[in-house]
Amino acid sequence: MSNRTLAILKPDCVRKDLVGNVIQKINEAGFKVKALKMVRLTNDSAGGFYEVHKERPFFPELLTYMTSGPCVPIALEKENAVEDFRKLIGATNPKDAAEGTIRNLFAESITENIVHGSDSDENAAIEISHFFSRKELLENYGI
Ligand code: RTP
Ligand code: MG
Repeated sequence: MSNRTLAILKPDCVRKDLVGNVIQKINEAGFKVKALKMVRLTNDSAGGFYEVHKERPFFPELLTYMTSGPCVPIALEKENAVEDFRKLIGATNPKDAAEGTIRNLFAESITENIVHGSDSDENAAIEISHFFSRKELLENYGI
């Protein structure tokens, strides 16, 4: 069991000025922010990140959304980080997200759902390295 996961506060989260509110929820749930930056994804970068969905009908809409403005990738630490963070964000479709989850509180639609969370320890490591190099993690963030 790894203690790290990757969150992305997606472009709608930034646009609606919800970055502070969402990070507060994340901290209150016991996660530590270990590395954080604001970036604008390109089509190639967003397409690579969500490569697993490239044959899905919603893929073009997902790319348009994820490249529509800056987002905030965050490397988080907590015991059982991946599973606990998925619980904290709730179901993909905010209509199905449990009461009090981040998507239940803040998200609009199945596409514009405020936040990403890694779905396995293996993917957490791959996804953290998508945004933060080993050198950067060591030298800038001390992890
Ligand atoms: P994420 O990877 O962003 O944490 O979301 P997730 O695991 O809950 O959902 P996933 O199936 O991996 O889908 C990735 C993102 O694609 C958009 N989506 N749109 N219109 C649709 O039917 C649809 N389904 C998924 C969402 O932005 C979703 O978070
Ligand atoms: Mg996913």
